[in-house]
Amino acid sequence: MTELEHCYNIFDLREVAQRRLPKGIFEYVDKGTEDGISLEENRAAFQRLKLHTRFLNDWSKRDLGTEIFGQRINLPFGIAPTGSAGLMWYQGEVELARAAAAAGIPVTLAMGALTSLEEVTKAVPDARKWFQLYPWEDEAGNYEMVTRARDLGWEALVVTIDHAPGRGREHNERNGFSFPFKPNMTAAVDMATHPGWLWRVMRKYLMNEGMPTNANYPDRYRFSVIDGKTRVSPKRFQAMTWEHIRKFREFWPRKLIVKSILSADQARAAVDAGADGIVVSNHGGRAFDSAIATIDVLPEVVEAVGDRCTVILDSGIRRGSDIVKALALGAKMVLVGRATLYGTACGGQAGAARAIKILSDEMERSFGYIGARSVAEIGPHIFARNNPAQ
Ligand SMILES: Cc1cc2nc3c(=O)[nH]c(=O)nc-3n(C[C@H](O)[C@H](O)[C@H](O)COP(=O)(O)O)c2cc1C
Repeated sequence: MTELEHCYNIFDLREVAQRRLPKGIFEYVDKGTEDGISLEENRAAFQRLKLHTRFLNDWSKRDLGTEIFGQRINLPFGIAPTGSAGLMWYQGEVELARAAAAAGIPVTLAMGALTSLEEVTKAVPDARKWFQLYPWEDEAGNYEMVTRARDLGWEALVVTIDHAPGRGREHNERNGFSFPFKPNMTAAVDMATHPGWLWRVMRKYLMNEGMPTNANYPDRYRFSVIDGKTRVSPKRFQAMTWEHIRKFREFWPRKLIVKSILSADQARAAVDAGADGIVVSNHGGRAFDSAIATIDVLPEVVEAVGDRCTVILDSGIRRGSDIVKALALGAKMVLVGRATLYGTACGGQAGAARAIKILSDEMERSFGYIGARSVAEIGPHIFARNNPAQ
């Protein structure tokens, strides 16, 4: 049996990823912000929710698929944008997109990815592709990227709005992990002691395209992951308002999704500004350590805008039952970030596919326990007590 086949759940994939990746890169992926409270709370909030069992309900014919933006997806989840997939595996973004396309689920490319919109389009033409943007103060730069996604026919633009204050990820400083890498002793020793990663990932970049860069950035902002000296830093868009979302709405011809919603008010503002979808997200506990767990805030968001837009949830999904709980509280689908990243670090496309299969099998088993045959049959009635939607 291969190492991947020995990974029976997402936590096993995480363990293998930890062995394979340099510590700085693993912790960048794995940890949260500041004290890691919101990271822990994301898991604890799912774990607090208990479900009724309902047997002898003939679930022999079942369908885990659903419809998002008028088109079927085979499983009610998709891949969240993660800027670092290309550090998990050579062209990790392409590997993730291939795994998503094979599973019939959408994939989101982060604007900070190491593989470009054009390369992903060419490599995986049949994937349902969404492009994520962190808006910069340089609006022309934003629109250069968004125009490329538009002209390539990508299905959705995902605008992440929690970006402006920056991140309190102290472990990155401690590990000497930054982007571009600042060649310091800690980071150098870390990489040198992970020759497998250097061989599998870095060597391939060096042999093919040279040092990886943020491949989607306009040329004036592109810089190599090691030599950052020539870099002109794009500024986070601190003066951004909902007006700028309206502008994206006018410009973007297909689905517009606003990510980082954590209250009914912000959800209403997003829909009023023209969003077709929102992602209830605390960035997987990586942004604001006092943020509420997304599953805890989901009911009030769904109550506020559930009939006006597609509500998506992410942050903390590690088990198939987590997905079932989110669907029960009104999410139309969820996104997974770390789960498929760990998988990608373990085996590229095959590893990402393993993560998807694990979540899908667990979800299917949960369907069996709660007696559901389709996503449509899942609702707040499945909670055993303290229905969180009330
Ligand atoms: C390593 C890593 C990088 C990420 N990069 C981005 C990004 O570039 N843009 C973005 O909107 N979200 C980013 N996210 C957040 C994810 O899109 C998603 O909200 C989060 O991972 C969900 O939580 P989970 O990891 O518990 O599934 C990143 C997450 C991780 C783990």
